[in-house]
Amino acid sequence: MKVDVLLGLQWGDEGKGKVVDVLTPRYDVIARFQGGPNAGHTLEFEGIKHVLHTIPSGIFHPGKINVIGNGVVIDPVVFKKEIEALVARGVDVKANLFISRKAHLILPTHRLLDAASEASKGKEKIGSTLKGIGPSYMDKTGRNGLRVGDAEHPDFISRYNVLVQKHKDLLAHYKFEYNLADLEPAFMESVEFLRTLTLIDSEYILNKYINEGKSILAEGAQGSLLDVDFGAYPFVTSSHTITAGTCIGLGIAPTKIGEVYGIFKAYCTRVGSGPFPTELEDETGELLRKRGNEFGSTTGRARRCGWLDIPALKYAIMLNGVTQLIMMKSDVLSGFEKIKVCTHYLYKGKQIDYMPYDVVHEKLEPVYEILEGWNQNLEQVSDHDELPTSLHNYIAYIEKATGLPITIISVGPDRKQTLLRQAVLR
Ligand code: GDP
Ligand code: IMO
Ligand code: MG
Repeated sequence: MKVDVLLGLQWGDEGKGKVVDVLTPRYDVIARFQGGPNAGHTLEFEGIKHVLHTIPSGIFHPGKINVIGNGVVIDPVVFKKEIEALVARGVDVKANLFISRKAHLILPTHRLLDAASEASKGKEKIGSTLKGIGPSYMDKTGRNGLRVGDAEHPDFISRYNVLVQKHKDLLAHYKFEYNLADLEPAFMESVEFLRTLTLIDSEYILNKYINEGKSILAEGAQGSLLDVDFGAYPFVTSSHTITAGTCIGLGIAPTKIGEVYGIFKAYCTRVGSGPFPTELEDETGELLRKRGNEFGSTTGRARRCGWLDIPALKYAIMLNGVTQLIMMKSDVLSGFEKIKVCTHYLYKGKQIDYMPYDVVHEKLEPVYEILEGWNQNLEQVSDHDELPTSLHNYIAYIEKATGLPITIISVGPDRKQTLLRQAVLR
């Protein structure tokens, strides 16, 4: 069987966790392929709200296998806490969670380096989640990193010390004050805990599953516009957030990719610094933030809000080979008399509909089309046919602009507030 992929088409927080949880009954295996504890994936069901950071969003379904792939970076301290919170909720994490030996470890000094680097940038900072993501991926590509499999090696402590010494030298360069002794005991204890979990050679296991006919859903983190190559560099994360990242982050050949679910909010949000052409720094933006409860799941920071950006969406669709779209948070747009959609940008005096090279120093001015809004409260809507006409028109507008079907529409945070358009869902 082929591996289906679900990933964000915007700047993250599209609602990936919710939909992976909804789709999990259709799959045998859920696998994360990149990112780390910078992610915050929210699941809501039966009155429970739970935020996952490193663990795939299929974990609440008994009997489903959840794999953390080689492309993920793991902070053992965050990971241990995450598992403990799930165990307290009665989830059998140990039985259903497998971790790639090739996944890299985030050390306490990676977090310190992230903080030192951001502090040194002042107003130019990336707005990183400060989880140590950039420095740990730097060590991975710089061939200095420590991996989950190293934790099984008797030499682990001496390898750890070699790397930490490098980090101390770098921290001295930043003149950054820190107290590592306070952080190390929890790290070592968490590495000890990690050793007790099921560590696997995930590329072999996942390909075995494929050959056995097991169905796999790959769960993206962050969003396509934060991809290290294709986002507005340097205002990006440090991993490949697009479909190609699935192949690298799980050890799966491109020919094995099946459906690509591209998930987007009915509007846009971004947390952290960087270009955001349709951002609304006015009361409309404030209203979107309030109605959409747009505050970061990982850091609690207020998310910047704006209208839907079609050129950006089409860019992400192109990069990912999206086969079907999922639209989230339609309910948040209820009550807006008019809804704007960005169809083009004004760039250096010209109207364009693509993402140019330099969007950091040159401004992209959005050109809008204005559509009719709707007033109906969507929270209780259980069938696609019950949606208001203006929302049907909004859906049809996006489908026409992108050339893709929107097969799932989300009308609230709960698992149940999800409309599957069976007629088009393949
Ligand atoms: P992820 O990182 O892509 O998994 O998304 P987050 O969990 O960071 O952010 C999405 C937020 O929107 C969470 O608080 C979800 O509970 C919430 N959410 C998801 N879908 C909907 C929806 O259709 N309507 C509303 N109002 N909230 C939603
Ligand atoms: P999920 O998976 C939204 C943003 C940060 C910052 C930039 C770099 O929940 O969608 P990093 O810590 O990766 O070095 O930060 O990327 N960012 C996210 N924004 N959702 C996320 O994940 C994010 N992960 C990172 O805010 O702008
Ligand atoms: Mg999130």
